[in-house]
Amino acid sequence: MNSARNCQGGKQLPLKSRITGTGSYAPERVLTNFDLERKVDTSDEWITGRTGIKERRIAKDTEATSDLCLEASKNAMKAADVTSAEIDLIIVATMSGDMPMPSTASLLQKKLGAKNAGAFDVNAACSGFLYGLSVADNFVRGGSAKKVLLVGAEVMSKFIDWHDRTTCVLFGDGAGAVVLEPARGQHGILSTHLYSDGNMWDYICLPGGGSLNPPSAKTVKEKMHFVKMKGNETFKVAVRTLERLVIDTLKKNKVKPSELAMLIPHQANLRIIQATAERLKLPMSKVAVNLDRYGNTSSASIPIALDEVVRAGRIKKNDYILLEAFGAGLTWASALIKW
Ligand code: COA
Repeated sequence: MNSARNCQGGKQLPLKSRITGTGSYAPERVLTNFDLERKVDTSDEWITGRTGIKERRIAKDTEATSDLCLEASKNAMKAADVTSAEIDLIIVATMSGDMPMPSTASLLQKKLGAKNAGAFDVNAACSGFLYGLSVADNFVRGGSAKKVLLVGAEVMSKFIDWHDRTTCVLFGDGAGAVVLEPARGQHGILSTHLYSDGNMWDYICLPGGGSLNPPSAKTVKEKMHFVKMKGNETFKVAVRTLERLVIDTLKKNKVKPSELAMLIPHQANLRIIQATAERLKLPMSKVAVNLDRYGNTSSASIPIALDEVVRAGRIKKNDYILLEAFGAGLTWASALIKW
């Protein structure tokens, strides 16, 4: 450690976690709104107008969530210049893991050969990546992990009723990953904020397959292994909650909306994203949007968008980046980063 660099005016600089590499991966197969017009009673006009989504990626039958994790992780680790052996913790945020047990993080650990890493999953649905970021940040700041691989990954397409037009047009598959490492100074994750209100658990849920409704002929017949969503009710809560969340997150860090360089929101609906940006008086040029190409990839949406803006050179050192998400639980979460 370089003690001169770690001190300022005789005081030790605070320990933070920093994102030192990002990566993402999306399956090759593209499913457009026009393809969906042939499957269910919908139209490109309705989907684009109501959501902003134009197409989404769909995993192969043989591709599982850990396969998407692996590709995104390799990209993030290359960017961070970190080897598998150096990773000491793997966290996968997902609601569509390979299987209920073991964790997708353990399966990823095997695929990476990351034999020195502990591994576990976090499930907070679409807020999962930010929940994972908060956990990873605490591990790093607490000193118990030095190189954390955090992945948000989903194969939503295998949990969607492709006959239900109210959900099948919304979701897509993908993965995004980051490597977090400790750093002393002003740069890194400034704060993370996690919230939940389980009273609205049934606004978005996948009711079958757990201990409440274990898999049976009945649960299959009743399509309980597919995502159910009260879209309009969720929409209203999401807009209200996210507007408050972004303002509160900035206030807590004494950062003005005008100082923000980039908003990276969860990609569920362009209208929700625009409402949040308007509340911050932020031009859309400072908002990362990719749901037109990927749809809602749940916990993968933020790390994919982050990887895209990093690789496009849209964020630079000292920039304030605000991340926010909303999803099943209901859960919502935010993080402020000084890049
Ligand atoms: N194609 C055509 N029509 C459709 C349709 C589709 N794919 N899906 C629903 N409709 C119809 C409905 O049946 C309804 O018809 P009706 O008025 O005859 O009953 C009409 O469109 C309006 O449905 P509604 O659900 O009120 O639309 P909406 O404006 O709320 O948009 C969502 C639906 C899902 C796009 C929107 O509610 C949404 O994005 N919700 C939030 C999602 C979210 O944030 N989730 C959290 C993270 S996962």
